[in-house]
Amino acid sequence: VGAFTSLKSPGEAAFIAGHRGDKTVAPENTLEALSLALDSAADYVETDVQLTADGVPVLMHDWTVDRTTNGTGPVWKYTYEELSALDAGSWFGEEFAGATVPTLEQFLNVLRWSTKNAILELKGSWTDEQVALVADLIARNGVTNHVILGSFDIMTLQAVQRVSPELPGMLIVRDIVGDPAKLAAAAGAVALVTSKSAITRNPELVQQVHDAGLGILIYTLNDSDTWSDAVALGVDGIVTDRPAELGTWIAKE
Ligand code: G3P
Ligand code: CA
Repeated sequence: VGAFTSLKSPGEAAFIAGHRGDKTVAPENTLEALSLALDSAADYVETDVQLTADGVPVLMHDWTVDRTTNGTGPVWKYTYEELSALDAGSWFGEEFAGATVPTLEQFLNVLRWSTKNAILELKGSWTDEQVALVADLIARNGVTNHVILGSFDIMTLQAVQRVSPELPGMLIVRDIVGDPAKLAAAAGAVALVTSKSAITRNPELVQQVHDAGLGILIYTLNDSDTWSDAVALGVDGIVTDRPAELGTWIAKE
C-alpha cells in the first residue's frame, strides 16, 4: 500500500523514522528539523498534526505552545495568524530564533521534492471533515504515495479509511491491551507502532502482527543497545530522535 511499498523485506535492515524531524539538532517539528531528517539517513520523517482555531493543520506535538514557543496556551485557541507570529526556535537555541510553527502544507511542499516518506500523526480525535482537509492537502501536493497517517485513536483511523482509503493508516499504542493486530486491522491500518516495553512484555507480538499482514514499528529508541534489541526483535522500523546516528549504526552492523 502506498508508502509501505518501502516497508522492509525479510532480512533487510529496519527502516528509520526521524521522530519530529531530527529533534536533536534543530527544534522539533520545525521545517528546519524536518528538512534535516529528510536529508539524513531517515527513510521516514515523523511529525504531529493539530488544527488551529481557524482549522489550519499545523505541526506541533504538545497540546499547548508553552514548551516549544514563546507563547502560552492551547494550540486550538490560536488562529494560524496568531500562531505563526510565535518564535518556535529560540527555546532550542538562539541560532534558531524566528523559526515558526509550520503548517502541514508548508511541510508537504518540502516533502514533495524529496524521495523520502512521512508519518503524519493526527493528534487527538479527527472527524471525517477534518481528515478530508488533510487528505486534500496530501493529494494537492502529490505525495499520496509518500505518507502514512498515524493515530492513537481508532476512530480517527476509521475516518481515514472512509474518507481516503488510498492513504495507509498506522495505529499507535503505548501498551498492549487485547489483540493489537486485530485492532490495527479493524482500523484499516497497515502497521502498528508501539513501545519497546509493550513488545518485550509480549514476545509473540512481532510475529502476530506480521502474521496479520501488518508492519510493526517501535518507538522511541535513541541508543545502540536498544537499536540492537529492536533489530533482534525483527521490527520493520525504528522511530528515533537520532536518525542520522541510527543510519550510521545500521550501515556498520
Ligand atoms: O511514532 C509514535 C510517537 O510519535 C508517538 O508518541 O508522543 O512522541 O507523539 P509521541
Ligand atoms: Ca508523534
